[in-house]
Amino acid sequence: MDRLKSSARLMIVSDLDHTMVDHHDPENTSILRFNALWEAHYRHDSLLVFSTGRSPTLYKQLRKEKPMITPDITIMSVGTEITYGKSMVPDDGWVQFLNQKWDKGIVIEETSKFPELSRQAETEQRPHKVSFYVKKEKAEQVTEALNKVLKGRGLDVKIIYSGGIDLDILPQGAGKGQALAYLLKKFESEGKQPVNTLVCGDSGNDAELFSIPGVHGVMVSNAQEELLQWYAANAKNNPKILHASERCAAGIIQAIGHFKLGTNISPRDVSDLTKDIENAHPAHEVVNFNLLLEKWRRAEVEDTELFLAGLKAVAHPTGIFIHPSGTEHHIKDHLNILRKVYGDSQGKPLKIWVDDVSASQIGSDTWLLKFDKWELYGEERQGCVVTAIMSTKESNWFTWVHIHQTFLEQSGKQEWMF
Ligand code: GLC
Ligand code: MG
Repeated sequence: MDRLKSSARLMIVSDLDHTMVDHHDPENTSILRFNALWEAHYRHDSLLVFSTGRSPTLYKQLRKEKPMITPDITIMSVGTEITYGKSMVPDDGWVQFLNQKWDKGIVIEETSKFPELSRQAETEQRPHKVSFYVKKEKAEQVTEALNKVLKGRGLDVKIIYSGGIDLDILPQGAGKGQALAYLLKKFESEGKQPVNTLVCGDSGNDAELFSIPGVHGVMVSNAQEELLQWYAANAKNNPKILHASERCAAGIIQAIGHFKLGTNISPRDVSDLTKDIENAHPAHEVVNFNLLLEKWRRAEVEDTELFLAGLKAVAHPTGIFIHPSGTEHHIKDHLNILRKVYGDSQGKPLKIWVDDVSASQIGSDTWLLKFDKWELYGEERQGCVVTAIMSTKESNWFTWVHIHQTFLEQSGKQEWMF
């Protein structure tokens, strides 16, 4: 993890299903609030880690279904697989470590003798994770019996029950907590231990995360019974753990405020973004600018002339805009095009978000920016890579000097991107 030259200001380690991702929120309100907060205020000096029970296959599927930003580190299959960066480079050291006292063949052989267990999909069977469904009433008894049998066969395993249905069998050294401890040790050896760490979860396989020394933790309001029971029995008096009153990602945002880990005002919570252009960081300008575009196209702008004047003020007089289709205009002229599309998505489910914003200062008043921009339009989405130059040369705020957009491969190349 060399993206940051020094310790992360904040490392968030979050579960996905029912924690970062709310499957009961078709508008994706809370995750989009989190995304904007993270990209505007944290991405440049902090680390985002997703820690999920999902296999790489189901994780990638979720990324297509929900507006998720890209984490710095992805921990999958209940802490048995760790990968780094956008290209998801696996941590081979972790795999080696997990081979101790583990034999998947024996686990499969012994579990087949339990009729209470029904095997999960093949994608969820991983080199260091064997997974089943089992009814709540049977879970405890089966876990006990399995522990005994597998110990008898010389294995050292960990059995985790989650969501009142899933039963995972892993090597003893695996799990979300162990994977986090491994990462923290790695950072420590590089002299880059995060200043603060916040772990976030909702179910049984997240419990371990909360027992890692020194971390803050949030159980989202919608946490499962098995996690709340674990908390009552093991961590009730730990002031560093919060049971949020808000669901999913809104609970994570709440915890950032509660533990005073940094700002928790998402640009999506700011009512008048046009008054918010004198920002401390160009990434914040990127987020605000794209949110303004979303509001414009949804016809959610009160004073349209004032709004256009605001956009004009952040456009460099000779700045150039290159559309993904290849057409090119002055940024100022592009604003005239924008005028025509006011409200083209009124009452429609358009959402715009940016991912993986990086900003590097390349001159005393010049910044080079790169980010992915996504538009979600109901079920359809399309994305482009944006490279841009911003300057503070002629004003106190960031002006756009150059914007170049290129379609991402995944996208459908529809015409509705601006
Ligand atoms: C995810 C995985 C599943 C696992 C569950 C609980 O749903 O897909 O295999 O059992 O998380 O860890
Ligand atoms: Mg979960």
